[in-house]
Amino acid sequence: MPNFASRRKISTVKLEKWVVAGICVSGIAAAISSCGGGGGSVSSTTGTTGSPPPAITTKAQLGKALFSDTSLSTPAGQSCGTCHSETKDFTDPRPGPTSEGVIPGLFGFRHSPSIRYMAYSPTFVGDGGQAGSAIGGQFWDGRAPTLTAQIPVPILNPTEMNNASTAAVVAAVQAGPYAKPLENLYGASIFSNPTSAFNAIDDAIVQFEHTSEFSPFTSKYDAFLAGTVQLTASETRGLAVFNGQGGCAGCHTSSPSLDGTPPLFTNFCYANLGLPKNPNNPYYTIPAKYNPLGANFVDIGLQTTTGNPGDRGMFMTQSLRNVAVRGPYFHNGIFTTLQQVINFYNTRDLGGFPTPEVPQTEDLTELGNLGLTQQNISDVIAFLNTLTDGYTPTPAIRY
Ligand code: HEC
Ligand code: HEC
Repeated sequence: MPNFASRRKISTVKLEKWVVAGICVSGIAAAISSCGGGGGSVSSTTGTTGSPPPAITTKAQLGKALFSDTSLSTPAGQSCGTCHSETKDFTDPRPGPTSEGVIPGLFGFRHSPSIRYMAYSPTFVGDGGQAGSAIGGQFWDGRAPTLTAQIPVPILNPTEMNNASTAAVVAAVQAGPYAKPLENLYGASIFSNPTSAFNAIDDAIVQFEHTSEFSPFTSKYDAFLAGTVQLTASETRGLAVFNGQGGCAGCHTSSPSLDGTPPLFTNFCYANLGLPKNPNNPYYTIPAKYNPLGANFVDIGLQTTTGNPGDRGMFMTQSLRNVAVRGPYFHNGIFTTLQQVINFYNTRDLGGFPTPEVPQTEDLTELGNLGLTQQNISDVIAFLNTLTDGYTPTPAIRY
């Protein structure tokens, strides 16, 4: 298969500083859809997807091994890959809207997002007091500014990997098969300082997250942009609706960024789509020790991070790359099919949906009554299916 990713200019290690403050503005203030395209550069340090695990000679290979290491939880049994499995676009393959932690019965309150292409999310930039203008970061609410800052969160969360300290994780790694590779790659005395050792574990996983395994850019749409394949009639119509009447591309960027990075299908901005609560969220019924409010819990999203009440209930725009091979959808996993998702965008304001969980900041301008026909919706779904990585052109039939 041709490697379309190789067309990109790949710069090493550091993400470029490309973020212009203030490009994310949502709600009524956005007279013109002012969200810019996301983009950045990412290093590609490992080999090809799907090959057997190589001997550990690079930090990214070590990170790959640690990502799937179930001794990183207390008790042992859960890895990053439990909730971010490569088999389902690095989301949780287990059924249900949110994920169960290593302690049976303890569920988180948000859906496990895909972490593909998240190496392209810029370091979080707050809103400077202007509601809805924050950009980037990690998590649905951007509260971890970088991938590096993200890793300790699930490691220490009692409803996820449940470790008492990062030192506990270091001890587990030191006793396991990756102690030697960690010493080889980060220094023979790395375990003499638990903080340095944890930072090394964290760094290795981040290096893995920067590989082409997470950002392959090998979808049919990439091949189309490279001029090596045509879209079908339905996919072409779907792309036109996506960019036009549907208004999707205003937030899910569909064109390459200025530095040539292929489209990421997110601008990494935040919005409140007016989603209702998901009554089936298992978080509502976990013990009061972990969720004292029960079903009355309200997810305030971006406000958690910025403290700005104007950001209440906003969540990060998701990349739509590989969207057809994951689900359920949205931060609370409320919808299970793309048909339901697009119906919501199309007819939210026509009745038929429960009230928004956070009505105050609902985006009333860019969605809610799009006037799309069922044919339009089918076409958009056909187009979204072109965003699945690993596309292999069908060989021409020979007679
Ligand atoms: C029990 C399930 C679970 C485990 C285990 C877990 N995660 Fe997650 N992950 C989640 C959920 C849920 C979120 C979203 C949380 C939020 O927004 O508050 C998330 C978010 C993320 C994000 C941000 C992605 C985005 O789109 O914003 C990254 C990156 C990530 N996880 C990586 C990891 C790594 C690395 C590990 C292992 C150290 C890990 N996760 C372990 C469930 C899990
Ligand atoms: C105003 C910006 C905006 C517009 C316009 C928009 N989206 Fe979104 N999209 C978002 C945000 C924000 C989320 C995450 C919201 C949440 O979970 O609370 C999202 C999530 C999604 C998801 C779920 C992804 C996942 O992994 O859970 C899909 C699918 C989607 N959008 C498709 C579309 C389509 C198709 C259109 C056009 C009809 C569209 N979007 C228009 C901002 C937007």
